Amino acid sequence: MAPTAVTGLALLLARAGLTDALSMRESDPTFQMSEADTSAEPTNQAEHGRPEKRIAYQTHRDVEDADELEAHKQIYHRAGEVLGGSQNIRHILQFVMSHPHAPVLPHGGCLYLPSDRVWAAFYRHVEHPVPTLFGDMIANSYYPGCNQTSVSGLRLPPSCGPGSLEGSRGCFRVASLGSAAGVEVYETSGHLGLPDQWSYHIAHTQPRHLRRAKEGGSRGSKCGRELPEVPKAHRLEIPTRYVVCQKSDADRTITEEHVREQNRWANEAFSGKSPWKEMSFDAAHPPSVDMQISFKLVNISIVTDIACARQGFTNTRLMHKYNEHAENFFTVVIITNDQSGVLGQTEFPHDLAEEDPENMVVVSSVGFRGDASRYNGDMMYDEGDTVVHEAGHGFGLYHTFEGSCGGRGDYVDDTQEEAMPHYDCVSDRSCGGDTDPVHNFMDYSPDTCMVGFTEGQKRRAWCELENHRSGLYQQSLKKAAGSSSY
Ligand SMILES: *[C@@H]1O[C@H](CO)[C@@H](O)[C@H](O)[C@H]1NC(C)=O
Ligand SMILES: *[C@@H]1O[C@H](CO)[C@@H](O)[C@H](O)[C@H]1NC(C)=O
Repeated sequence: MAPTAVTGLALLLARAGLTDALSMRESDPTFQMSEADTSAEPTNQAEHGRPEKRIAYQTHRDVEDADELEAHKQIYHRAGEVLGGSQNIRHILQFVMSHPHAPVLPHGGCLYLPSDRVWAAFYRHVEHPVPTLFGDMIANSYYPGCNQTSVSGLRLPPSCGPGSLEGSRGCFRVASLGSAAGVEVYETSGHLGLPDQWSYHIAHTQPRHLRRAKEGGSRGSKCGRELPEVPKAHRLEIPTRYVVCQKSDADRTITEEHVREQNRWANEAFSGKSPWKEMSFDAAHPPSVDMQISFKLVNISIVTDIACARQGFTNTRLMHKYNEHAENFFTVVIITNDQSGVLGQTEFPHDLAEEDPENMVVVSSVGFRGDASRYNGDMMYDEGDTVVHEAGHGFGLYHTFEGSCGGRGDYVDDTQEEAMPHYDCVSDRSCGGDTDPVHNFMDYSPDTCMVGFTEGQKRRAWCELENHRSGLYQQSLKKAAGSSSY
């Protein structure tokens, strides 16, 4: 059967609700949700007035008095409590509060925060957000004196009648949840306060699975939970090429040497040797198996292409010309001037034909190894684990928070389920069970927190490569022990 026929069948069965036997994809909770509401509410963006010039606002960094700073943090803390069960935004508030760029929220005023349902839609568009932008988002969402202008200068959308505001796809609900130390907290059922980068990206991209369905993709993974052990003497040495899209010839944000160093780091990580910075909540060394996978660097090309360098995440077609013969390589594209507020973005191999030029890992230079220390950036991503995380997706691994609590999660049994992504290295039990897997490469925690992959993830990666990138798998497979050298 031709791939398109298989796809058509899988989709038909999914719609008819005949799940499980043929494809695992249709029972993925995220996918079900998207089938139910393909438009309207979840991607509804507030119709903000967005002036060119933003107002500079005070951040926690500007507060010198320790008691005063503590009082400001209390407002975040209380807002999190008022939000109760909304785990995503509670965690985001905690993340913003613990960083010096947190906007000061003075006493009084109104804070508008999206519901967990809205967050689920957000993550379908913005696969891996640059989390520093959450600070901007809070500033865009906080209205001193509850009037029309946010502390950052954004204007609240026009009213749509009582308890609702105007959005790009119609009115959305706004409900008061109560007061947090003098700040009135509202829950919104549309995206409110999104920074320009994310707002643009969401307005100009399809949610990824919808785009695939439209283009006849989403073939369904052949890999379930019961998978055999990887033979000890087998290794995959994957021919890997890097493409750097820079904005000008003088750019040189990423050099060949930087690429080699990043690749070396990724190989360490995949062999289970990523450093562990022990946290007070760690009872033992977190899982970090040797994946028996390495990246064999075969080509680095640095191209000057400003459209690719700026808009690669939003318009992936801009990168297709750099991914010819996609079936023969593992391709990593680095964009040096991202305008979408995304850290990395990758398709799953089971959703694409092997030769599809969408078969690539795309990362922002912001998440490239050493970039933050070279250019005074956000040290959260300095080690280079963004490439490791995205390569995990390229081998078919889901996020550890995929599907939230209950359900099938990430289709791997030995990763603890979790309700939402973690941006901080914290001990949490978001699904009520064991502690959340913040040390796993497939969460969103800072690089110093990420330590390894589990045995289940290793088996899934091997299965996905064997079944969905079989050409690359055959080229990469080495059966003698200790055959790695590059
Ligand atoms: C909105 O409220 C803030 C704080 O109370 C005040 O500084 C600002 O002038 C007000 N803006 C308008 C347009 O009323
Ligand atoms: C790397 O790829 C580029 C673009 O396809 C090509 O022009 C170049 O010759 C390749 N370099 C090597 C060393 O294979």
